[in-house]
Amino acid sequence: MSKSRIRLGVNLDHIAFIKKSRDTRYPNLSDAVHISENAGADLITIHLREDRRHIQESDAYEIRKCAKVVNLEMANTFEMIKFAMDLKPDYVCLVPEKREEKTTEGGLNVVNINAADQKFLKNNIENLKSLNIKVSLFINPDIQDIEQSKLLGADIVELHTGTYANTFGTDAEEKEYEKLKIAAKYADEIGLVVNAGHGLNYENIGRICKIQNLNELNIGHSIIADAVFIGLKDAIGKIIRIINNCD
Ligand code: PXP
Repeated sequence: MSKSRIRLGVNLDHIAFIKKSRDTRYPNLSDAVHISENAGADLITIHLREDRRHIQESDAYEIRKCAKVVNLEMANTFEMIKFAMDLKPDYVCLVPEKREEKTTEGGLNVVNINAADQKFLKNNIENLKSLNIKVSLFINPDIQDIEQSKLLGADIVELHTGTYANTFGTDAEEKEYEKLKIAAKYADEIGLVVNAGHGLNYENIGRICKIQNLNELNIGHSIIADAVFIGLKDAIGKIIRIINNCD
């Protein structure tokens, strides 16, 4: 892959989480899409989870209508495949999902699964691709997982950067960073598009951007967390102006 700017997918789940926490109409997700795109986001990423803890189906349809490019993260289930085939995002990223986890804790298991599960995964990838949806598998930075993703027909692998992020600044960081570097190079060499994401923030992203072969990063939590502080002053000022001018 020739080196150009790494694309940025902005994950809006945590804006949807604020909306869901009170079932309000705000924060408006179309506004979030427009602000993200105007700020330079190349695509909008959302994760419709089984427990609907943040993005709802209606949010996904609203975002699909107004976003230029949509990446839907989802579990590999009948229900979600049916939903994706109706939503028709530009990309689907298949992720493992457990109800009890706070966020996606590991990569998709593509190697140690039985023949029936492998067939199910392969068929789902084919069905999504038949609708011109590009399919990505969210996997650990592991050579076997990359090879298996290719065999299953994925267009893209998204390398899970969570362990690197969790070990950043510790003795274990280097080992995790090397795994990502080797995995990105190998996946690129065998013809897969290579994305990465999870747990990336202003401190740990610098080294990730130095990895050749990366096409795109998907980032949510740290951007939305920082947006709170970048915007808090203006948000308070806005309400004070309304209070002061209310008579
Ligand atoms: N990529 C994938 C596949 C994910 O599941 C997530 C979390 O939803 C992210 C990227 C973004 O992670 P974070 O919110 O930690 O930036």
